[in-house]
Amino acid sequence: MSAIKKEVKRVTTKSVIEMKAKGEKIAMLTAYDYTFAKLLDSAGIEILLVGDSASNVMAGHDTTLPITLDQMIYHAASVVRGAERALIVVDLPFGTYQSNPQEALHSAVRIMKETGAHAIKLEGGKEEAEGIQRIISAGIPVMGHLGLTPQSIHQFGSFGLRAKEEAEAKKLKEDALLLEQLGCFAIVLEKIPAALAAEVAQSVRIPTIGIGAGNGVDGQVLVMQDVLGMSNEFHPKFLRKYANLHETITQAVANYIQDVKSLDFPNEKEQY
Ligand code: KIV
Repeated sequence: MSAIKKEVKRVTTKSVIEMKAKGEKIAMLTAYDYTFAKLLDSAGIEILLVGDSASNVMAGHDTTLPITLDQMIYHAASVVRGAERALIVVDLPFGTYQSNPQEALHSAVRIMKETGAHAIKLEGGKEEAEGIQRIISAGIPVMGHLGLTPQSIHQFGSFGLRAKEEAEAKKLKEDALLLEQLGCFAIVLEKIPAALAAEVAQSVRIPTIGIGAGNGVDGQVLVMQDVLGMSNEFHPKFLRKYANLHETITQAVANYIQDVKSLDFPNEKEQY
């Protein structure tokens, strides 16, 4: 008798748009490797973002700028092998799409071909319109990203709240409409006033996924390490920690060290 493998229905760009239409909120988290992708996927997460925040949380850089396309491809391919249900979106890293639409398309094609992911994300509005159009016209779904766009950190000067002033808020609203017109399937809104984010969410039919943007949006995204409390150094106002893995892991490793040194591990049952 052959084992029957249960078919798992994949979340798609179309299904997340339908979720917004039905008023169902979308849960998204970052993932960078096989093991965590498998865990988050089996817990039922709808979108896994292979974020360029890998530059911070996996490689220890201060910004997202240093991570390369090859490094993003390595992380994304690992996530794809771990997730059978979630929609997998991959960030185009800094410097791989801004110079011209051909370069943007080339980078997006490499991600799709070499990882098996389902969509890409890139930062910016009007300035990136031609690149976005080129990528979408090749059949690659694009998620936009407005507000605090960390690849522009040296222009902003800080990771503070964006679009507090009327001029920046106006541009953000126009950019959101433009991204929808260009064919983006969703938009991340990062660290902007909740009222502005809610207004943007109501102005477009595609889902808006917030991080530090209040609950008037269509879904939420957080960095996995932050949600699981893996660091005890990062406590922004917008973050809710659902576990304290910093304490759990530190204590587990301390116990292991103690058992090795005291010859408690391995015991008779743990050897051949
Ligand atoms: O890289 C990332 O993790 C992101 C999210 C914070 C939205 O872009």
